[in-house]
Amino acid sequence: MQWAATTLAVCGLGAAALATSMLTLGRRLELSQAKHRSLAGHARMARRLAGFVPFYDYDEDRFFACDGAPADIVSLRRAGFARLSELYKTRFAETIRCSAEAAEAISDLQFTGTYRVPFQYRRMVRAHLPLGTFLQASEGVTVTDLDGNRFYDLTGSYGVNVFGYDFYKGTIERGAARVRDLGPVLGAYHPLIIENTQRIREISGLDEVSFHMSGTEAVMQAVRLARYHTRRSHLVRFCGAYHGWWGDVQPGIGNPQPAHETYTLAEMSEDTLHVLRTRRDIACVLVNPEQGLHPNAPAPTDSSLLDSSRSSHFDKTIYTNWLKRLRQVCSERNIVLIFDEVFVGFRLAPGGAQEYFGIRADLVAYGKTIGGGLPIGVVCGRKDLMKRFRDDRPADICFARGTFNAHPYVMAAMNEFLRLFKTSEVQALYRDLDAVWDGRAQRLNRRLADESLPVQVANMSALWVVCYTQPSRYNWMLQYYLRAQGLALSWVGTARLIFSLNYSEAEFDAVADRFVAAAKTMQQDGWWWHDPATTNTTIRRAIMKEMIAHRLFPSRKH
Ligand SMILES: Cc1ncc(COP(=O)(O)O)c(C=O)c1O
Repeated sequence: MQWAATTLAVCGLGAAALATSMLTLGRRLELSQAKHRSLAGHARMARRLAGFVPFYDYDEDRFFACDGAPADIVSLRRAGFARLSELYKTRFAETIRCSAEAAEAISDLQFTGTYRVPFQYRRMVRAHLPLGTFLQASEGVTVTDLDGNRFYDLTGSYGVNVFGYDFYKGTIERGAARVRDLGPVLGAYHPLIIENTQRIREISGLDEVSFHMSGTEAVMQAVRLARYHTRRSHLVRFCGAYHGWWGDVQPGIGNPQPAHETYTLAEMSEDTLHVLRTRRDIACVLVNPEQGLHPNAPAPTDSSLLDSSRSSHFDKTIYTNWLKRLRQVCSERNIVLIFDEVFVGFRLAPGGAQEYFGIRADLVAYGKTIGGGLPIGVVCGRKDLMKRFRDDRPADICFARGTFNAHPYVMAAMNEFLRLFKTSEVQALYRDLDAVWDGRAQRLNRRLADESLPVQVANMSALWVVCYTQPSRYNWMLQYYLRAQGLALSWVGTARLIFSLNYSEAEFDAVADRFVAAAKTMQQDGWWWHDPATTNTTIRRAIMKEMIAHRLFPSRKH
């Protein structure tokens, strides 16, 4: 009898354990299903595979003919390349000299200088098309290099420049004058912080504010608060989304350590909503609304422009619906919805992405432009979520400090920014913003199509991505033709064009003329010669074969 009872108990325990394991397995499977199929959706695998990619590069012959172009095309390319090289070396001489000197000791310059084009082409490009990273002045929508060349600025200063460089020169200068008496005193506040806080609360529609030194820190703090208040461990980020360089939000390539408490899930996915509805360990969902331009894909760079598969298309209605559903699930499950508006805040609408998409987040991270030209990160949030201690547990706190937080000079430049922001002049920049920039993108696309150029742009308001309409291995060359035409691009090249909102029609038309001229010259120089049998798939396969061959037989000539 006792034996039977014991057997029954053991069986019961076994069944319970089995049921628990099945449940856990089921949850894991659901999590796997909610990952995007691409490598960007599988951070660990991506990191492991990245470690297998061997370095190799093309010799001169292959550099000009890796797509099998015939001899006449190759000579066009050679001549075009030599012409560009000559132009760069003479027109940008001092800027290049200075950059080369600085690169010896500035690791960031070495990194960006190395990752402008796919690595197979790097040696030839660095030797013959060196780029300068120095500027001496900015004015209106232009910047001037050390050789006195003026460029239309499409870098947007990493997104800081929303209203034009002169605007920020003013905010920094006037701000500095207002806090000069206090100087660099930290810890205590300058009274300007009170007005800043009020204005940010108004803009964000949220209760409280904290100040940090960078967007990365603001995101770290928002996630930490969400974990503290929900007492849950995991953050959900979406595949491809950038949220700064803190480890937990950058679990893939670029971070040597795996992020153990991060789920990278697919955006616009029912499976993701199911995971959010059913798991109990999710503290927060981080959204970077810029991803609306390329959901589930990493921020593009020209260094990965090996073929023409880069695609981008922003559909505001579809993306808004997705965010609304996300909002609803987060509310149902007490998951903290964090909008990372470090990049898009103030760019899409006066009330940022919250206003643009009509969605209220629980926490919002701002950065970049809100510092009025100086370094900043800001977190705004619901009162209950911003609190960093528990009344009933005095030792259970959520720590967040920073020596330079709320620096008087930053607060003062921010104050100038926030005051000017309210003026009718600045508010007028938002009038018909999307219509203006959609219209400009369409106009440029029409011109490119009329000229039979295999290039189109996609845009989310004044944020643009250049895409390529016909399979080619040389699209990365366009950035060099654009620079030769006097367009300043950031180190990611044609992957991101950031316009400030003060571009007039005439200035935009000048950019469009130069853009078309650059693409035409590139076409005339033969880079877009196209073998009809070539597709993006055949290009990728060929590159994969090269990589495997170099990996397996590194010393052989391929
Ligand atoms: C969406 C987003 N979040 C966070 C960051 C990080 O901001 P910071 O570079 O100021 O640390 C960036 C920077 O580009 C960003 O675009």
